[in-house]
Amino acid sequence: MIISESIKETRDQVKEWKKQGLSVGLVPTMGYLHDGHKSLIERARKENDKVCVSVFVNPMQFGPNEDFDTYPRDFDRDSKICEDGGVDLIFHPEVETMYGENFSSYVDMHTLPDNLCGASRPAFFRGVQTVVSKLFHIIPADKAYFGQKDAQQLAIIRRIWYLILILI
Ligand code: PAF
Repeated sequence: MIISESIKETRDQVKEWKKQGLSVGLVPTMGYLHDGHKSLIERARKENDKVCVSVFVNPMQFGPNEDFDTYPRDFDRDSKICEDGGVDLIFHPEVETMYGENFSSYVDMHTLPDNLCGASRPAFFRGVQTVVSKLFHIIPADKAYFGQKDAQQLAIIRRIWYLILILI
């Protein structure tokens, strides 16, 4: 199993797999993996030749009163779960790698999130849309797997996916 902190290394590896005609599944996570993640990994394993899991606690989706620093993390345990689940690559970037000092572009939607609870959680929706778009570009997977616990998050991710499909 490859563990990569680098965008370039990850993208090059995924491109290489795609060049070989292999299908790639992506399970985006913020780590601290649980049974729900395990079942997403299991499904991705069944449906794809290669499986990538991203483990990144995204500071951009935390509001001012939500604590990014105390969000639970246990990368050793996450790696073990991924290894046992047959994952081929974990993308585990540093915050600085995802949001460098010149970072200034966001992905946002001005309709759907406000119809949901975007008005009360603007940081969350903008943060999720931005990081998921970045992940989709770093790991251009054939399929991506998300839990369905947060229906509102799922609704915006479906729109991003549509946008990416149109762009490619
Ligand atoms: O649901 C999550 O774990 C996160 O919001 C996600 C989709 C990985 C984006 O950081």
